[in-house]
Amino acid sequence: MPKELILRKSAKITTAFKNRFFPHIKAPKCAFVYLSTQSEVRTLAIINHLIDNGIGVYVPCVDNGAIHPVKYTKGCRLSKGAFKIKEPVKKIKPKTPKCIEMVVVPGIAFDLKGNRVGFGKGFFDMFLKELKPNSIKVALAFEKQIVKAVPSQPHDVRMNYIITEDRIINCGRAK
Ligand SMILES: Nc1ncnc2c1ncn2[C@@H]1O[C@H](COP(=O)(O)OP(=O)(O)O)[C@@H](O)[C@H]1O
Ligand SMILES: [Mg+2]
Repeated sequence: MPKELILRKSAKITTAFKNRFFPHIKAPKCAFVYLSTQSEVRTLAIINHLIDNGIGVYVPCVDNGAIHPVKYTKGCRLSKGAFKIKEPVKKIKPKTPKCIEMVVVPGIAFDLKGNRVGFGKGFFDMFLKELKPNSIKVALAFEKQIVKAVPSQPHDVRMNYIITEDRIINCGRAK
C-alpha cells in the first residue's frame, strides 16, 4: 500500500481505538504496544494517547529469541534492534510483566475468531502467555488482512479485538 493510504487508514484505526477503549473501560495502568514498521498499522498516535492518559507504555524488545517489554517515553531515543525493528536505546523493564493489562499487536492475517498469523516465530504467542490471562489483546490490521479462516495450533493465543479501518471485530472472551 502507498504510504499515504497506510497513514489514512492508520488514522481511522487510531480513532476507532480511542473511541472503543476511552473512556468506556477502566484504563489500564500499563499497556504494551508494538512500534510500527513501514507496512504496519501505525501506532505512535495510540502510544502518545495512552501516555497522555497516564498509562505506562511498554514496547517490544527482541533479545535472546524472545520479546521483552521495555518502557517507552515520549521522544525517547530509538535504535534498530533484531529484525531491524526500532526499540528504545534505554531498556527499562516493568516490575513484572503481569502489570500489563492491555496488549496491542501486529500480524500478517487474522480471522473473525481472533486467530492470528504472526511472523512465523511465535514470539508474540510466547510473550502473551507470560501476561495476566485476562489482559485485553487487541490486534491492529488493515481490512485486507482479515481472512475467512487461519490455521491455529494449541500454542497460538487468540485476540479479543481486531481493529481495522472499517470495523471493530469483537472476537469474544474479552473482559
Ligand atoms: N508458546 C509457545 N511455546 C513454545 N513454542 C512456541 C510457542 N509459540 C510458538 N512456538 C514455536 O514457534 C513456531 C512458530 O509459531 P507460529 O505460531 O506458527 O508463529 P506466528 O504466531 O509468529 O505466526 C511454532 O511452530 C512453535 O514451534
Ligand atoms: Mg502463532
